[in-house]
Amino acid sequence: MSDNESTRKPFEPKIVAFFCNWCTYTAADLAGTARMKYQPNVRVVRIMCSGRLDPQFVLAALREGADGVLVGGCHPGDCHYQEGNYKALRRFTLLKKLLASLGIESERVRMEWIAASEGDKVRTTINEITEAVRRLGPLRLEPRALEGVKKSLSEPAPTVEVAQGESI
Ligand code: FES
Repeated sequence: MSDNESTRKPFEPKIVAFFCNWCTYTAADLAGTARMKYQPNVRVVRIMCSGRLDPQFVLAALREGADGVLVGGCHPGDCHYQEGNYKALRRFTLLKKLLASLGIESERVRMEWIAASEGDKVRTTINEITEAVRRLGPLRLEPRALEGVKKSLSEPAPTVEVAQGESI
């Protein structure tokens, strides 16, 4: 074994987590105060609601070197802003399809509903995504790979014109 091989560090994924202030972020706090041990690969960004998650945030994280992204929000029906998490889910589903079309594995980007009392679920989810991304290896993106996705996300949704009395 050469010196180079023996000193090479194993791959440690970088994961960016966007956590809703009211539930998942609080659950992460709970996991911390309860001294639950989980993988140290996640960097948490607190957002007020999962509905605040602009898909561009996910693209920016991946573009800037994250190997995976985790989004945590309140359970359906529990969002403090009524429907933020439903909106987040719709956007996230579309984003995952676009990322898949670029060959980005679906395990790299995950959304999970985690209530404030579910510290243990934070630990499990972080450990699972870290292990999944570690198995996949580093995300190797062409510098311009996400430009097409970014463009399609910034275009307005197509409109459908319906004449009076006509149904879709
Ligand atoms: S307030 Fe938590 S997802 Fe909306």
